[in-house]
Amino acid sequence: MTEQARLAGKVAVVSGAGTFGGSGVGNGAAAAILFARHGANVVLVDAVGEWADATARIIAEEGGAAMTAAADVTNPDDCQSVIAAAVERYGGLHILHNNVGGGGSGGSVVDATDEDWYRSASVNLMSMVNMCRYAIPRMKTAGSGSIINVSSVTALRPKPGRSSAQYTVNKSAVVGLTRALALDHAADNIRANCIMPGLMWTPRLEQGSADAREMRRASTPLPVEGQSWDIGNAALFLASDEARFVTGVTLPVDGGFLLTSAPN
Ligand SMILES: NC(=O)c1ccc[n+]([C@@H]2O[C@H](COP(=O)([O-])OP(=O)(O)OC[C@H]3O[C@@H](n4cnc5c(N)ncnc54)[C@H](O)[C@@H]3O)[C@@H](O)[C@H]2O)c1
Repeated sequence: MTEQARLAGKVAVVSGAGTFGGSGVGNGAAAAILFARHGANVVLVDAVGEWADATARIIAEEGGAAMTAAADVTNPDDCQSVIAAAVERYGGLHILHNNVGGGGSGGSVVDATDEDWYRSASVNLMSMVNMCRYAIPRMKTAGSGSIINVSSVTALRPKPGRSSAQYTVNKSAVVGLTRALALDHAADNIRANCIMPGLMWTPRLEQGSADAREMRRASTPLPVEGQSWDIGNAALFLASDEARFVTGVTLPVDGGFLLTSAPN
């Protein structure tokens, strides 16, 4: 198998595949570009259509195959439509990369409202549940599948003031969801794995200060800065047949961040 053929003949749906702006690409866009570079037909799902278009242009310039879908993955109807569109366009579905997630309102349970909790659960957890609900029957038809869910080191290392309780709880739930999916659908030859990004540098964070960037880099034991491509490469492995015997795992991609103190 050549390197370019690692995902040949596969159809992949990537949520949050848009490029936010600034320099570089986000975690979802990096995974989508790598999937396409390795031969997959990729469906780029993003709430902001132009951001998905930006990723599609990068893939097209490299000679890859992709379509965009402007959709909000917190809306179950949108999830159903996206999966149906992927199958209609490319004839099946093999890979689902659930990348959408986000911080929430901040603060402890004392500060957050019920609405904050529901919103965070919707973005971080139910978006993945709904995409899986519609994707898994298509993977069964295909005879195999790979689901990749994006959590965060915050699930194991919440930090007062930096991460909201909602984000911590829901990114922990992503780990549980992954394990349940892996067991429930192992007999269908559908694998489910989780990536736990550390303190990556992604375009959205360019709005912050240089000091904040250095603080994130200095909090990581390895002397290199984590990038979206590091998450993309982990996703590429988990999506590929090279990981055909890997399911139910949570893979930190964090430069050793979780080694710096015992997980809670
Ligand atoms: N950047 C980090 O350091 C870091 C660390 C840990 C975990 N993560 C996780 O990685 C994932 C991606 O992070 P990022 O910083 O690259 O993402 P991001 O915040 O830049 O968002 C990526 C894309 O998702 C889209 N999106 C947001 N909500 C959506 C929705 N409801 N429906 C469809 N599209 C939607 C956005 O429009 C954007 O184009 C998230 O799950 C995040 O929690 C990131």
